[in-house]
Amino acid sequence: MKKETVQPAKYLTGGLELPGDKSISHRYAMLAGLAEGTSELRHFSAAADCHSTLDCMRALGAEVKIDKDTVQVTGSGVRGLKSSWRALDAGNSGTTMRLLAGILAGQAFTSKLTGDESLQKRPMGRVIGPLREMGADIRGREDNFAPLEIRGSRLKAMHYMMPMASAQVKSAVLLAGLFADGVTSVTEPAGTRDHTELALEEFGAQIEKDGRTVRIHGLGSGNGSGKLIAKPLDVPGDLSSAVFFIAAASVLPDSNLLIHNVGLNPTRTAILDLFASMGASIQMLGLKSSQGELVGDLSVKGSSLKGGAIAGRQIPLLIDELPMLAALGPYTEEGIEIRDAAELRVKESDRIAALAENLRRMGATVEERPDGLKVAGRRAGKLRGAEIEPRGDHRIAMAFAVAALGAEGNTVIRNSDCAGVSFPKFFEELNRMADR
Ligand code: S3P
Repeated sequence: MKKETVQPAKYLTGGLELPGDKSISHRYAMLAGLAEGTSELRHFSAAADCHSTLDCMRALGAEVKIDKDTVQVTGSGVRGLKSSWRALDAGNSGTTMRLLAGILAGQAFTSKLTGDESLQKRPMGRVIGPLREMGADIRGREDNFAPLEIRGSRLKAMHYMMPMASAQVKSAVLLAGLFADGVTSVTEPAGTRDHTELALEEFGAQIEKDGRTVRIHGLGSGNGSGKLIAKPLDVPGDLSSAVFFIAAASVLPDSNLLIHNVGLNPTRTAILDLFASMGASIQMLGLKSSQGELVGDLSVKGSSLKGGAIAGRQIPLLIDELPMLAALGPYTEEGIEIRDAAELRVKESDRIAALAENLRRMGATVEERPDGLKVAGRRAGKLRGAEIEPRGDHRIAMAFAVAALGAEGNTVIRNSDCAGVSFPKFFEELNRMADR
């Protein structure tokens, strides 16, 4: 396993191009595989997770051609998927497994869905439950874990009151709704990212939104064209990847970054508002709408962060950014407190435990709680370089590489390759932009 040594840096400077947005790439790949014709997906994510989705779609009969970051996916229409002779492997990707479960529930064949060791420990009951209510026959280990066996069937439309705020659960139900008779609706308890709704509209599905409720008309319901239509799409840069650089630049004075072509969908930008409220210097430039998604550049300058508490409805909108925020705690004036985020324990790793353990390795003062953690600010002392164990979790590896930039002495990130799950060139880009 590869190790990466991160040296302290004075500041970050230069321009940055991001990998394509991971969440959007998954959705475009799946819907392109259900559309009639060839969709050219440009600036498709380099993340291993999104390539797991492409592999699954290929195994289900879609034609997939990859040329650098342009991916051509040819589907045979919404009834065109074929049964895969082997188990579909979602790798490390929860989005692949949960969203595909929704699609597979509506097929006229049986599929097996599996994933790596981490994914096999993550809860799938949250999608098994609603998909069963729609009529699918799904079996999993202990009724909650992969491998999943999904016997697709004719689905009934339903209204689902989601017990948790999860874009993956919402998406699984909406995707199953494509194949159901009638109108399927989902009401979420708090807002989550809406890329599935936007992507479904782009491909021609009929979607309606009303506050926290989204409705989808089943393709056989007589409304709309009854099919999904292939189209060329540009994937914006991944804001959740940009966040590591925004965080680094914000705590290293004299930093000056320009991040190009970032996806700025309002259901993802809570992190920018939070950074701004803590005193970060971030400017959005050239904001434009692109195929339903907002895109722009971000200019980030060094500043001094105040810190503060993050809780309640903020959590689902910041869920992937919480590791970075916690690891920044020791660089803020007041520290960082995260509450109501027990969900972090069932991500790619138990992120609360991984954060607490590695922050302590660097000398931070941390209180670990069942639903979050409290990390003391600057006054508790400077971080020191340490050996970091990311537990195979990309966001933990990257968060601590950033924390290492302001520490005393070098930090070693074990199993640093795991960053490739979302950002294969992360360390290369960080080294290029860090001035030592
Ligand atoms: C995602 C939704 C979130 C997020 C994950 C990507 C998506 O998961 O953490 O990285 O693309 O829909 P949950 O729906 O489990 O909150």
